[in-house]
Amino acid sequence: MPIHRWSGSNPRESDDSFMIILGIESSCDETAAAVVEDGTRVLSSIVSSQVKIHHKYGGVVPELASRKHVEAVVPVVSSAIREAGIEMDALDGVAATQGPGLVGALLIGFSFAKSFAFARNIPWVGVNHLEGHINSVFLGEDPPDFPFVALMVSGGHTNIYHVTSHTEYELMGQTRDDAVGEAYDKVSKMLGLGYPGGLVLDRLAGDGDPKKIDFPRSWLEKSGFDFSFSGLKSAVNRCIQLHGDEYSQADIAASFQESVVDVLSYKIISAAKRKRVKNLAVVGGVAANSRLRQRVTAEAKKRGMKVHIPAVDLCGDNAAMIAARGYHHLKAGDESPLTADVYSRPKVTTGFPHK
Ligand code: KG4
Ligand code: ZN
Repeated sequence: MPIHRWSGSNPRESDDSFMIILGIESSCDETAAAVVEDGTRVLSSIVSSQVKIHHKYGGVVPELASRKHVEAVVPVVSSAIREAGIEMDALDGVAATQGPGLVGALLIGFSFAKSFAFARNIPWVGVNHLEGHINSVFLGEDPPDFPFVALMVSGGHTNIYHVTSHTEYELMGQTRDDAVGEAYDKVSKMLGLGYPGGLVLDRLAGDGDPKKIDFPRSWLEKSGFDFSFSGLKSAVNRCIQLHGDEYSQADIAASFQESVVDVLSYKIISAAKRKRVKNLAVVGGVAANSRLRQRVTAEAKKRGMKVHIPAVDLCGDNAAMIAARGYHHLKAGDESPLTADVYSRPKVTTGFPHK
């Protein structure tokens, strides 16, 4: 792939040249670095996962996560630059996740990015992790046109946004209790299948009957876009306690998943109808779910809508999405000062911007 180098000393001097951004992500238990051209073409994307380390504790241990980021950050960044096939001088800017996430974990990637940019005298910017997930949809072959409605489903969030540009998002709805990925992880734990639970339940559900158990669908107000998964989680728990011997694990997984997917697919379609848009996006770790991808795609097709879902390896936490979002910040001249700090929670909870 030909690499176009930035010709000016400052990215804002010219609008039509290509910009190559190094992205860094360390908000939770993945140390990731990526090199992305123009916010769309992934030249490399390296993810070093700590899943095996945290698995035995049944969840992420924050201090362990920070220590592992310290060990991984330099090798991961070096691999990303090497795999991109570029010289270090070709980088026009650096983007690192600023929040939300675990503070000790965020600080490793964020401080590294700051020092790297300072040493190389290139611009850098802190990126909101959720905005990164939304921008992951521009990394594929078939990016959506604006405006579109995005369903963001991860371990920490279940949100619906109306997205009108790379920088403008309106939060239409969010979970009132557990995030959907969190519900997968908890159900997996109840079944003794460990952490994280999404992929394992997704695979297990493939062998089960989604109609076997009629778990509740938490619609809340059917015309609204908020979610709730704690009732479903309790229903699964009760079912395992009372009828664990009657049903197979595969049937429990498939029936749980069907309840989740029914609600998620219904709400994203009705959000698109409300906003009168034809383009939909599904992003975040749970967007890797095979049943969700299948159902949203089919439901949208029936209504003449189109769904854009990133490749599975760009659904979970990665740095390519951070570079993609950082590109738009830097292109607009929005750089972070060297005094910038990380944040654990969004300061604004009703819409973007979160910082
Ligand atoms: O976006 P992500 O990597 O990290 C956060 O920002 O939270 O999402 C992680 C979540 C975990 O809860 C994991 O169980 C879930 O995504 N997940 C899945 C699948 N793959 C990962 N959930 C359902 N089906 C999957 N195939
Ligand atoms: Zn994430």
